[in-house]
Amino acid sequence: MVDGTYPMIGNTNHVNENYPDLVNRRPGIKSVSPRISMEENSPLIEGGIQEGPFNGSIPTLTGRTSFNSEFTMYWVATASSLMFTSTVWYIVLSAEHEFFIWHPIFMSTTLFLLTQGPLLLQTAETREEKEKGLNVHRSIQSLAFLTGICGFYIIYTNKKDHNAEHFTSAHGMFGVLTLSLIFIQVLGGALVVNAPALFGGVARARGIYKYHRISGYTILLFAWLTALGGTQRDWVTDRFNHIWFWLLAFTLTWIGIGSRVKLNKMKVL
Ligand code: HEM
Repeated sequence: MVDGTYPMIGNTNHVNENYPDLVNRRPGIKSVSPRISMEENSPLIEGGIQEGPFNGSIPTLTGRTSFNSEFTMYWVATASSLMFTSTVWYIVLSAEHEFFIWHPIFMSTTLFLLTQGPLLLQTAETREEKEKGLNVHRSIQSLAFLTGICGFYIIYTNKKDHNAEHFTSAHGMFGVLTLSLIFIQVLGGALVVNAPALFGGVARARGIYKYHRISGYTILLFAWLTALGGTQRDWVTDRFNHIWFWLLAFTLTWIGIGSRVKLNKMKVL
């Protein structure tokens, strides 16, 4: 059962009893909600899937999908995180230019990319989807790490130039911790995928994925909390003092991400 090639079970309206996870589906199209699975198995639908403007016809970076709740939640999370990032950009680009503004620009970009990383992999089911998802995921997370390094360099240099003390605020301290964890996470992920021998082979390395997922969500939450802290620094509140707005973007993003988490992919015991 690889490469998204699923045996057709005929015109059944239920899951095969011998193979409960096999549903009648077209290769490359996700069965992501019970409602869609029923539609895909409907005897009334030719080829097992409803033809229409939305079902099974929406191209994404990791394959085609249907207009279902997970797809909607992807956009809730994406739009909300984009709302956060673009507002940071709007505030700093409306301010007078100074070297500092590149810190929030880079960091809010890091936050958006970090949020996309898991979103693009969460619903991958078939081998093809997982492979495509992994390629996009590692590129996006590497870029997030690079923009994070740039953002850190800017604020560190800026403070040094002004003879200001480093890591004095909760935001600054939490920020270094988060960046260090991102570094470990990126390194760990790269080793598991590219050097599985270090972990005792491919099968064992794959067993580590679930820990990478758990730490990934934790670090993403740290990054969001750090960024929320950044929005409450004087430089920002002097220009835009609407904490409700940042909290709204944060909450909607996490509703989107949280609703797409697959708990069965994270069982550690
Ligand atoms: C994941 C996102 C972020 C990380 C990891 C991060 C990290 C950091 C770090 C490590 C420092 C302290 C540097 C030092 O003391 O040498 C700092 C300072 C600062 N950051 Fe961020 N930052 C992030 C997002 C933001 C955002 C979105 C804003 C503004 C909207 C912001 C505004 C500031 C300000 C004003 C300072 C200087 C004051 C202070 O040290 O608290 N940051 N950041």
